[in-house]
Amino acid sequence: MRTGDGDGRADVADNDAVTETTTLDDRWAVFDRWGPYGLLALSTLTAWTAADALGMSTGARRACGVLIVAAVVLELRWNRVVRTRPGPSAAGARHYALRWAVGFALTWANPLFAFYAVIGYFSTERLLTRRLRKAGLFATAVTLAGSQSGGLPPSGELGWALFGALLAANTVLVLLFSHFADLEEARGRARLETIAELERTNTALQQALDENAALHAQLLVQAREAGVADERRRLAAEIHDTLAQGLTGIIAQLQVVANTADPALAREHVDRATALARHSLGEARRSVHNLAPAALADDGLPKALEKTVAEWEERTGTPARFTTTGTVEPLHDEVAATLLRIAQEALSNTARHARAGRVGVTLSYIGDEVTLDIRDDGRGFDPRVRSARTLPHSRLRSSGGTPTGGFGLDGMRARAERVAGSLDVESEPGQGTAVSARVPLVRHD
Ligand SMILES: Nc1ncnc2c1ncn2[C@@H]1O[C@H](COP(=O)(O)OP(=O)(O)OP(=O)(O)O)[C@@H](O)[C@H]1O
Ligand SMILES: [Mg+2]
Repeated sequence: MRTGDGDGRADVADNDAVTETTTLDDRWAVFDRWGPYGLLALSTLTAWTAADALGMSTGARRACGVLIVAAVVLELRWNRVVRTRPGPSAAGARHYALRWAVGFALTWANPLFAFYAVIGYFSTERLLTRRLRKAGLFATAVTLAGSQSGGLPPSGELGWALFGALLAANTVLVLLFSHFADLEEARGRARLETIAELERTNTALQQALDENAALHAQLLVQAREAGVADERRRLAAEIHDTLAQGLTGIIAQLQVVANTADPALAREHVDRATALARHSLGEARRSVHNLAPAALADDGLPKALEKTVAEWEERTGTPARFTTTGTVEPLHDEVAATLLRIAQEALSNTARHARAGRVGVTLSYIGDEVTLDIRDDGRGFDPRVRSARTLPHSRLRSSGGTPTGGFGLDGMRARAERVAGSLDVESEPGQGTAVSARVPLVRHD
C-alpha cells in the first residue's frame, strides 16, 4: 500500500531489512554446505606439510587418513539430513558432537587440524538448541586451546597451565561474542516483528480506507437522493402555490359566470379570471427561475401582505384586516417569500373551506423572531382528523393515483421548516381557524 511519501519510504526500508536478512541466511547456508570441506582441505594441507616437522608417526598419519574420510562421510550424510531438518534439532546436536569428536581427535594427532575444528564456533546457532550452545562452544574452545598450547595432551605442569589459561581466554572471548550475537539476533527478531506489525497496520489502514471510500460513496448517493427529494418538495409547493391556487380561483370565477344571466357581472368575473390566470402564469414563471413572488419585487413584506389581504377581501367579499406589530425590519428574501406564500395559502383555504365572517392577518416582529397569524371565524375543522387523512400515502386516489389535494397545510409547514421555522394550526369545528407561522428574523443582506 502507498499512502504517501513517508509510508513509501517506510516500505522500502522494510523491504531492505527483509532482503538483508535473506542474503545473510543464504550466505550462511553456502558456508554450512561448503565450509567444512574447505576447512578440512586447508587443515589437511597444512598438517601434512608440517607432519615431518611435528614428528607424526605413520600410525598417527593413518589414523588421520581414516578420520579425514570419516569427516567427509559425516559432512556428506549431514548435507542430506539438513535438507529435511534445517535449524537446531537433536539430529543437529548429534552431528555437532560427532564433528567435534573427529575434530578433537585430528587436532590431538596434529594441532594444525584446529583449522577444521574451529568450525564448531560457527555452527552452534544452526545446529544446537539454545540450551546446548554454551556447552558446544566450550567443547570447541577445549580443542582450540589444546592446539594453541602446542598440541594435546599438554606436557608437564607448564603445558597444563598454558592450556588452562588459553582455554579460559578462548571461553571468555567466545562467550562474549556469543552474547553479542544473541543481542544482535534479538534485535533482528524485534526488527522483523516491527516489520510484521507495520504490515498488519498497513493492511488495517488499507481496510479502513476501503471502508471509508464505500461509506463516502454511500453518503454521496444519500445526499443526492436527499437533494432530489428536497427539490421535488420545493417544486410541489411552488406548483401548488402558483398554478393550483390560481386555477382554483379561476374555476370559482368561471362558476359564477356560468350561473349568472347578467352580462355585466359575467364580464366582471371573466376579467377577474383573466387577471388571475395572468398573475398565476407570472408567478409560475418566477418560481421556475426561483425568484421571489411578484408582490415582493417592488415592496417589502408588510406592504406586500397588505395588498394581498386587500385583494383577497375584494375578491371574496369577506372583510379582512391586516396589522403589523413590533419594529418593522427588512427581511431576507427567502424568509419574506416564505411568509407571503403561507399567508396566500392560509387565505386561499379560508376562502375555500371556512365560510368566514371576518379574517385577521397579523405580522409581528418579536425580538429575533417574526410571526404571522391568519385567523378566521369560520367553521373550523379538526386538524387531527385531517393529519390522519392526509398522510403521504393517503394522498393518492386508490383508483387513478393522482393527488387529491390536501397539500396546502403540509406545504406551509415545509416552507416554514425550510427556513428553520415552525407552523401551528389551531382549529375546532365551529370555532374558526388560526394558522401561526414562526420564523427566525434573518435580515436582508
Ligand atoms: N381555514 C380553514 N377553515 C376550515 N377548514 C380548513 C381551513 N384550512 C384548512 N381546512 C381544512 O383542512 C383541509 C386541508 O387543507 P389543505 O390546504 O392542506 O388542503 P386543501 O386546501 O383541501 O387542498 P390544496 O390546498 O392542496 O388545494 C382542507 O381540506 C379543509 O378541510
Ligand atoms: Mg389548501
